[in-house]
Amino acid sequence: MELRPTTDGDLPALHAIFLDAIGSVFVPHGFDPPAPSLEVFSNLQGHIRRTGISVVAEEEGRVVGYGSSWKRGDDWFLASLFVGSAAQGRGTGPALLDAVWSEAKRRRTMTDAIQPVSNVLYGRRGLVPATPVLTFFGRPRIEARVETAPADTQAIDEFAYGFDREVDHEHWSRHARRTDSGDGYSYVFPGGEIGPVAGATPAAAAAALAGELARSEGDVRVRVPGSARALVEVALAAGLRLAPVPGLLLLSQGVEPPSALAPSSYALY
Ligand SMILES: CC(C)(COP(=O)(O)OP(=O)(O)OC[C@H]1O[C@@H](n2cnc3c(N)ncnc32)[C@H](O)[C@@H]1OP(=O)(O)O)[C@@H](O)C(=O)NCCC(=O)NCCS
Repeated sequence: MELRPTTDGDLPALHAIFLDAIGSVFVPHGFDPPAPSLEVFSNLQGHIRRTGISVVAEEEGRVVGYGSSWKRGDDWFLASLFVGSAAQGRGTGPALLDAVWSEAKRRRTMTDAIQPVSNVLYGRRGLVPATPVLTFFGRPRIEARVETAPADTQAIDEFAYGFDREVDHEHWSRHARRTDSGDGYSYVFPGGEIGPVAGATPAAAAAALAGELARSEGDVRVRVPGSARALVEVALAAGLRLAPVPGLLLLSQGVEPPSALAPSSYALY
Protein backbone atom coordinates (compact mmCIF):
# COMPACT_ATOMS: atom_id res chain seq x y z
CA MET A 1 0.00 0.00 0.00
CA GLU A 2 1.36 3.42 -0.98
CA LEU A 3 0.21 6.89 0.03
CA ARG A 4 0.39 9.94 -2.24
CA PRO A 5 -1.27 13.38 -2.50
CA THR A 6 -4.74 13.45 -4.09
CA THR A 7 -5.10 15.09 -7.52
CA ASP A 8 -8.27 16.52 -9.08
CA GLY A 9 -8.18 13.53 -11.46
CA ASP A 10 -8.68 11.19 -8.46
CA LEU A 11 -12.05 12.71 -7.50
CA PRO A 12 -14.21 10.19 -9.43
CA ALA A 13 -12.31 7.30 -7.72
CA LEU A 14 -12.77 9.00 -4.32
CA HIS A 15 -16.49 9.39 -5.01
CA ALA A 16 -16.80 5.66 -5.80
CA ILE A 17 -14.90 4.76 -2.60
CA PHE A 18 -17.07 7.10 -0.54
CA LEU A 19 -20.31 5.50 -1.84
CA ASP A 20 -18.96 1.98 -1.24
CA ALA A 21 -17.46 2.71 2.22
CA ILE A 22 -20.40 4.67 3.60
CA GLY A 23 -22.71 1.95 2.25
CA SER A 24 -20.73 -0.61 4.27
CA VAL A 25 -21.74 1.31 7.42
CA PHE A 26 -25.40 2.14 6.66
CA VAL A 27 -26.71 -0.77 4.57
CA PRO A 28 -26.18 -3.58 7.16
CA HIS A 29 -28.46 -1.57 9.51
CA GLY A 30 -31.09 -1.10 6.81
CA PHE A 31 -30.48 2.68 6.58
CA ASP A 32 -30.20 4.58 3.29
CA PRO A 33 -26.60 5.83 2.94
CA PRO A 34 -25.82 9.42 1.90
CA ALA A 35 -25.38 9.54 -1.89
CA PRO A 36 -24.06 12.91 -3.11
CA SER A 37 -23.70 13.41 -6.87
CA LEU A 38 -20.16 13.36 -8.28
CA GLU A 39 -20.45 17.13 -8.86
CA VAL A 40 -21.43 17.97 -5.26
CA PHE A 41 -18.81 15.56 -3.88
CA SER A 42 -16.06 16.96 -6.15
CA ASN A 43 -16.85 20.61 -5.32
CA LEU A 44 -16.44 19.86 -1.63
CA GLN A 45 -13.41 17.55 -1.77
CA GLY A 46 -11.76 19.83 -4.35
CA HIS A 47 -12.10 22.77 -1.95
CA ILE A 48 -10.74 20.69 0.94
CA ARG A 49 -7.80 19.51 -1.18
CA ARG A 50 -6.94 23.09 -2.18
CA THR A 51 -7.20 24.47 1.37
CA GLY A 52 -5.97 21.45 3.37
CA ILE A 53 -4.34 18.03 3.02
CA SER A 54 -5.75 15.17 0.96
CA VAL A 55 -4.03 11.80 0.56
CA VAL A 56 -4.95 8.61 -1.30
CA ALA A 57 -3.88 5.03 -0.57
CA GLU A 58 -3.06 2.90 -3.61
CA GLU A 59 -2.70 -0.84 -3.98
CA GLU A 60 -1.30 -2.15 -7.27
CA GLY A 61 -1.99 1.22 -8.91
CA ARG A 62 -5.63 1.37 -7.75
CA VAL A 63 -6.95 3.90 -5.25
CA VAL A 64 -8.42 1.97 -2.29
CA GLY A 65 -8.91 4.77 0.27
CA TYR A 66 -8.47 8.44 1.03
CA GLY A 67 -8.22 10.84 3.93
CA SER A 68 -8.46 14.61 4.08
CA SER A 69 -8.14 17.31 6.71
CA TRP A 70 -7.95 21.09 6.87
CA LYS A 71 -6.53 23.64 9.27
CA ARG A 72 -7.72 27.18 9.87
CA GLY A 73 -5.09 28.81 12.11
CA ASP A 74 -4.49 26.45 15.06
CA ASP A 75 -7.76 24.55 14.53
CA TRP A 76 -7.64 21.20 12.70
CA PHE A 77 -10.59 19.27 11.29
CA LEU A 78 -10.60 15.71 9.97
CA ALA A 79 -12.77 16.02 6.85
CA SER A 80 -12.80 12.43 5.57
CA LEU A 81 -11.40 8.96 6.11
CA PHE A 82 -12.76 6.28 3.81
CA VAL A 83 -11.41 2.89 2.79
CA GLY A 84 -13.22 0.75 0.20
CA SER A 85 -14.98 -2.24 1.76
CA ALA A 86 -12.66 -4.80 0.11
CA ALA A 87 -9.58 -3.10 1.60
CA GLN A 88 -10.83 -2.46 5.16
CA GLY A 89 -9.29 -4.01 8.27
CA ARG A 90 -5.65 -3.95 7.05
CA GLY A 91 -4.38 -0.73 8.62
CA THR A 92 -5.02 1.56 5.64
CA GLY A 93 -7.36 3.87 7.59
CA PRO A 94 -4.89 4.43 10.46
CA ALA A 95 -2.05 5.07 7.93
CA LEU A 96 -4.17 7.66 6.09
CA LEU A 97 -5.08 9.27 9.41
CA ASP A 98 -1.37 9.60 10.29
CA ALA A 99 -0.78 11.21 6.88
CA VAL A 100 -3.40 13.96 7.33
CA TRP A 101 -2.70 14.54 11.05
CA SER A 102 -0.72 17.74 11.55
CA GLU A 103 0.34 20.03 14.41
CA ALA A 104 -2.71 21.72 15.94
CA LYS A 105 -3.90 23.19 19.22
CA ARG A 106 -7.51 22.10 18.81
CA ARG A 107 -9.03 19.20 16.87
CA ARG A 108 -12.53 18.37 15.70
CA THR A 109 -14.28 15.86 13.48
CA MET A 110 -17.77 14.52 12.78
CA THR A 111 -18.66 10.83 12.57
CA ASP A 112 -21.71 8.61 12.23
CA ALA A 113 -22.80 7.33 15.64
CA ILE A 114 -23.30 3.81 14.22
CA GLN A 115 -19.63 3.52 13.14
CA PRO A 116 -17.67 1.95 16.03
CA VAL A 117 -14.39 1.61 14.11
CA SER A 118 -13.82 5.30 13.37
CA ASN A 119 -15.12 6.45 16.76
CA VAL A 120 -12.59 4.22 18.55
CA LEU A 121 -9.80 5.13 16.11
CA TYR A 122 -10.28 8.85 16.80
CA GLY A 123 -11.07 8.39 20.50
CA ARG A 124 -7.68 6.79 21.06
CA ARG A 125 -6.15 9.97 19.65
CA GLY A 126 -8.01 12.23 22.03
CA LEU A 127 -11.00 13.08 19.82
CA VAL A 128 -13.98 12.16 21.99
CA PRO A 129 -17.73 12.49 21.22
CA ALA A 130 -18.94 15.72 22.86
CA THR A 131 -22.46 16.12 21.42
CA PRO A 132 -24.77 14.36 18.99
CA VAL A 133 -25.42 16.02 15.64
CA LEU A 134 -29.07 15.65 14.63
CA THR A 135 -30.06 15.64 10.95
CA PHE A 136 -33.48 17.25 10.49
CA PHE A 137 -35.32 17.07 7.18
CA GLY A 138 -38.72 17.71 5.59
CA ARG A 139 -40.88 20.66 4.65
CA PRO A 140 -40.73 23.33 7.35
CA ARG A 141 -43.92 24.84 8.77
CA ILE A 142 -42.84 28.00 10.54
CA GLU A 143 -43.46 31.72 10.29
CA ALA A 144 -40.61 34.05 11.06
CA ARG A 145 -39.75 37.52 9.92
CA VAL A 146 -36.08 38.29 9.90
CA GLU A 147 -34.77 41.73 8.91
CA THR A 148 -31.81 41.39 6.58
CA ALA A 149 -28.79 43.45 7.59
CA PRO A 150 -25.05 43.09 6.88
CA ALA A 151 -23.38 40.65 9.25
CA ASP A 152 -19.94 40.85 10.87
CA THR A 153 -18.89 37.41 9.64
CA GLN A 154 -15.59 37.31 11.52
CA ALA A 155 -17.16 38.13 14.90
CA ILE A 156 -19.96 35.61 14.33
CA ASP A 157 -17.49 32.87 13.37
CA GLU A 158 -15.36 33.63 16.41
CA PHE A 159 -18.36 32.92 18.65
CA ALA A 160 -20.04 30.15 16.64
CA TYR A 161 -17.01 28.23 15.37
CA GLY A 162 -14.19 29.56 17.54
CA PHE A 163 -11.97 30.19 14.49
CA ASP A 164 -11.84 32.07 11.19
CA ARG A 165 -13.68 30.62 8.16
CA GLU A 166 -12.93 33.29 5.55
CA VAL A 167 -11.59 30.86 2.95
CA ASP A 168 -14.68 28.67 3.37
CA HIS A 169 -17.13 31.56 2.96
CA GLU A 170 -15.69 31.97 -0.55
CA HIS A 171 -16.62 28.34 -1.25
CA TRP A 172 -20.07 28.53 0.37
CA SER A 173 -20.88 31.82 -1.38
CA ARG A 174 -19.99 30.28 -4.75
CA HIS A 175 -22.33 27.30 -4.34
CA ALA A 176 -25.09 28.48 -1.98
CA ARG A 177 -27.34 31.50 -1.37
CA ARG A 178 -26.42 33.51 1.73
CA THR A 179 -28.70 35.66 3.87
CA ASP A 180 -27.33 38.06 6.49
CA SER A 181 -29.41 39.02 9.51
CA GLY A 182 -27.09 41.42 11.36
CA ASP A 183 -25.89 39.15 14.16
CA GLY A 184 -26.33 35.95 12.14
CA TYR A 185 -26.02 34.43 8.68
CA SER A 186 -27.33 31.37 6.86
CA TYR A 187 -26.64 29.52 3.62
CA VAL A 188 -28.95 27.32 1.58
CA PHE A 189 -27.72 25.11 -1.28
CA PRO A 190 -29.70 24.21 -4.40
CA GLY A 191 -31.82 21.21 -3.39
CA GLY A 192 -32.50 22.54 0.12
CA GLU A 193 -29.35 21.68 2.13
CA ILE A 194 -29.14 24.38 4.81
CA GLY A 195 -25.89 25.33 6.54
CA PRO A 196 -23.82 26.72 7.86
CA VAL A 197 -26.13 28.81 10.01
CA ALA A 198 -24.31 30.80 12.68
CA GLY A 199 -24.90 33.61 15.11
CA ALA A 200 -23.08 35.93 17.50
CA THR A 201 -25.37 34.46 20.20
CA PRO A 202 -27.43 31.25 20.34
CA ALA A 203 -30.62 33.33 19.94
CA ALA A 204 -29.20 35.07 16.85
CA ALA A 205 -28.32 31.74 15.24
CA ALA A 206 -31.76 30.36 16.07
CA ALA A 207 -33.39 33.43 14.49
CA ALA A 208 -31.24 33.01 11.35
CA LEU A 209 -32.31 29.37 11.11
CA ALA A 210 -35.98 30.25 11.65
CA GLY A 211 -35.73 32.84 8.86
CA GLU A 212 -34.10 30.37 6.48
CA LEU A 213 -36.76 27.74 7.21
CA ALA A 214 -39.58 30.26 6.77
CA ARG A 215 -38.20 31.32 3.36
CA SER A 216 -37.90 27.77 2.03
CA GLU A 217 -40.46 26.58 -0.47
CA GLY A 218 -39.65 22.87 -0.48
CA ASP A 219 -37.92 20.12 1.47
CA VAL A 220 -34.85 21.05 3.47
CA ARG A 221 -32.11 19.25 5.36
CA VAL A 222 -30.13 20.74 8.24
CA ARG A 223 -27.69 19.31 10.78
CA VAL A 224 -27.88 20.66 14.31
CA PRO A 225 -25.62 19.74 17.25
CA GLY A 226 -27.53 18.88 20.44
CA SER A 227 -25.33 21.47 22.17
CA ALA A 228 -26.96 24.18 19.99
CA ARG A 229 -30.22 23.81 21.89
CA ALA A 230 -31.85 27.01 20.59
CA LEU A 231 -31.47 25.74 17.00
CA VAL A 232 -32.77 22.27 17.88
CA GLU A 233 -35.89 23.94 19.30
CA VAL A 234 -36.42 25.89 16.06
CA ALA A 235 -36.10 22.72 13.93
CA LEU A 236 -38.58 20.90 16.18
CA ALA A 237 -41.00 23.85 16.17
CA ALA A 238 -40.87 23.87 12.35
CA GLY A 239 -42.14 20.29 12.33
CA LEU A 240 -38.98 18.85 10.75
CA ARG A 241 -38.35 15.12 11.01
CA LEU A 242 -35.29 13.46 12.41
CA ALA A 243 -33.19 11.21 10.14
CA PRO A 244 -32.48 7.89 11.89
CA VAL A 245 -28.67 8.02 12.05
CA PRO A 246 -27.31 10.68 14.37
CA GLY A 247 -23.84 12.08 13.92
CA LEU A 248 -21.31 12.75 16.64
CA LEU A 249 -19.11 15.81 17.01
CA LEU A 250 -15.75 14.69 18.38
CA LEU A 251 -13.57 17.29 20.09
CA SER A 252 -10.09 17.34 21.56
CA GLN A 253 -9.66 18.23 25.22
CA GLY A 254 -10.72 21.77 26.12
CA VAL A 255 -12.74 22.50 22.95
CA GLU A 256 -16.27 23.64 23.78
CA PRO A 257 -19.24 22.21 21.83
CA PRO A 258 -20.94 24.85 19.64
CA SER A 259 -24.10 26.58 20.90
CA ALA A 260 -24.85 28.90 17.96
CA LEU A 261 -24.14 26.79 14.88
CA ALA A 262 -25.68 24.41 12.37
CA PRO A 263 -22.63 23.11 10.46
CA SER A 264 -22.45 22.98 6.67
CA SER A 265 -21.52 19.31 6.26
CA TYR A 266 -19.65 16.41 7.83
CA ALA A 267 -16.54 17.24 5.79
CA LEU A 268 -16.39 21.05 6.02
CA TYR A 269 -18.09 21.56 9.47
C1 LIG B 1 -13.21 3.60 9.39
C2 LIG B 1 -12.21 3.16 8.36
C3 LIG B 1 -11.64 4.37 7.62
C4 LIG B 1 -11.04 2.44 9.06
O1 LIG B 1 -10.09 2.05 8.11
P1 LIG B 1 -9.53 0.55 8.07
O2 LIG B 1 -8.39 0.52 7.12
O3 LIG B 1 -10.66 -0.40 7.79
O4 LIG B 1 -9.03 0.43 9.57
P2 LIG B 1 -8.54 -0.87 10.36
O5 LIG B 1 -9.67 -1.80 10.59
O6 LIG B 1 -7.36 -1.43 9.67
O7 LIG B 1 -8.10 -0.21 11.73
C5 LIG B 1 -9.04 0.40 12.60
C6 LIG B 1 -8.73 0.17 14.06
O8 LIG B 1 -9.99 0.05 14.77
C7 LIG B 1 -10.05 -1.22 15.43
N1 LIG B 1 -11.43 -1.71 15.42
C8 LIG B 1 -12.08 -2.38 14.45
N2 LIG B 1 -13.33 -2.64 14.83
C9 LIG B 1 -13.50 -2.11 16.05
C10 LIG B 1 -14.60 -2.05 16.97
N3 LIG B 1 -15.80 -2.56 16.70
N4 LIG B 1 -14.39 -1.43 18.15
C11 LIG B 1 -13.18 -0.92 18.44
N5 LIG B 1 -12.12 -0.94 17.61
C12 LIG B 1 -12.28 -1.54 16.42
C13 LIG B 1 -9.11 -2.08 14.64
O9 LIG B 1 -8.69 -3.17 15.43
C14 LIG B 1 -8.00 -1.11 14.34
O10 LIG B 1 -7.22 -0.82 15.47
P3 LIG B 1 -5.75 -1.42 15.63
O11 LIG B 1 -4.97 -0.86 14.47
O12 LIG B 1 -5.29 -0.90 16.95
O13 LIG B 1 -5.93 -2.89 15.58
C15 LIG B 1 -12.83 2.18 7.31
O14 LIG B 1 -13.24 1.00 7.98
C16 LIG B 1 -13.97 2.76 6.55
O15 LIG B 1 -13.79 3.46 5.57
N6 LIG B 1 -15.21 2.48 7.00
C17 LIG B 1 -16.40 2.91 6.32
C18 LIG B 1 -16.53 4.41 6.17
C19 LIG B 1 -16.41 5.17 7.46
O16 LIG B 1 -17.15 4.93 8.39
N7 LIG B 1 -15.45 6.10 7.52
C20 LIG B 1 -15.27 6.92 8.68
C21 LIG B 1 -16.05 8.17 8.53
S1 LIG B 1 -16.01 9.04 10.06
